[in-house]
Amino acid sequence: MKVAIVGVSGAVGQEFLRVLDERNFPLDELVLFGSSRSAGRVYSFRGKQYTVKELKHNDDFKGIDVAFVSAGGGTSVDFAETITKHGTVMIDNSSAFRMDKDVPLVVPEVNAEDALNRPRGIIANPNCTTIQMVVALKAIENLSHIKRVHVSTYQAASGAGATAMAELVKQYEQILKGEEPTVEKFAYQLAYNLIPQVDVFTENGYTKEEMKMYNETRKIMHTDIEVSATCVRVPVLRAHSEVTWVETERPISIEEARKAFAEADGIILQDEPSNKEYPMPLFVADKEPVYVGRIRKDLTNPNGLTFWTVSDQIKKGAALNAVQIAEYLIKVKNI
Ligand SMILES: NC(=O)c1ccc[n+]([C@@H]2O[C@H](COP(=O)([O-])OP(=O)(O)OC[C@H]3O[C@@H](n4cnc5c(N)ncnc54)[C@H](OP(=O)(O)O)[C@@H]3O)[C@@H](O)[C@H]2O)c1
Repeated sequence: MKVAIVGVSGAVGQEFLRVLDERNFPLDELVLFGSSRSAGRVYSFRGKQYTVKELKHNDDFKGIDVAFVSAGGGTSVDFAETITKHGTVMIDNSSAFRMDKDVPLVVPEVNAEDALNRPRGIIANPNCTTIQMVVALKAIENLSHIKRVHVSTYQAASGAGATAMAELVKQYEQILKGEEPTVEKFAYQLAYNLIPQVDVFTENGYTKEEMKMYNETRKIMHTDIEVSATCVRVPVLRAHSEVTWVETERPISIEEARKAFAEADGIILQDEPSNKEYPMPLFVADKEPVYVGRIRKDLTNPNGLTFWTVSDQIKKGAALNAVQIAEYLIKVKNI
């Protein structure tokens, strides 16, 4: 298996190196790509040194089986043809192709088979907030069809990339020294603050991030589910948290929901409120599963259930999900 990582210097790119190693991905050759800014940089992987190549419109992808691409939507659009023209499967982390009809949008625990139908050689990785939500929703959908969802997210700084995470750390240092904090990556200072805006606003008053949760969830789950989201940036370094209210066709008891979550692929149930046991981003950072806790009946709706999920959005929300897609394709001998 010959593998490429495009955008290796970034938050997600670095996670690809870790995840491929941790999961013992069957890899014979690795090629790393970046822009002219990181070209020439050296990264080590399984004891070997690899030099980053500049991504160019040439034949560098000839012979590469799978390319994990996390270099922003503009780069993905610009280089999709170059990456796929010799048969490379492009697994793309950007939002560029997610809603295209001829590009599958895949979360292996939910719709792995969709990855087999990829007319353009591109498979899209969903938005990080959507990935962790649909892994949990799938467990409930298996019990009773979910009609609608309200969700509020608490999104870590690293969701906006490596420099955003560094800016949050720097802001705390600057404030402690009595200096004016640097504010470049977000609209406002994030340290000691919350920002109720992730991505830009659309005409209906929701942000693009919130509309991604609506549209992507329907595409992945192949249902008429309605999702109303509020996305908030919080001063957490890594791992997104979400509170989710679902309305199902029939009432689901707490016991049923707990059992479904406990048995579901990719989920760890952490729900013992009497022992103060519930998932938190500080402890979920760097972990693979989606953690679920605080499961309750919705007090306003007999068919409603409320729960809390936390997942590392650079792992399951990006690199890990993409690697799991590739693992699935290998397992079914599709690459
Ligand atoms: N962070 C997350 O939690 C997360 C989750 C899900 C999806 N994503 C998506 O994954 C992508 C990367 O996000 P990130 O957080 O890793 O961002 P990041 O830390 O800012 O890294 C961006 C990467 O893209 C590379 N790049 C930019 N322009 C390029 C070009 N023209 N040619 C080649 N490489 C180029 C950069 O390389 P240089 O160093 O050479 O500039 C860098 O490696 C984005 O589309 C993002 O939306 C991120």
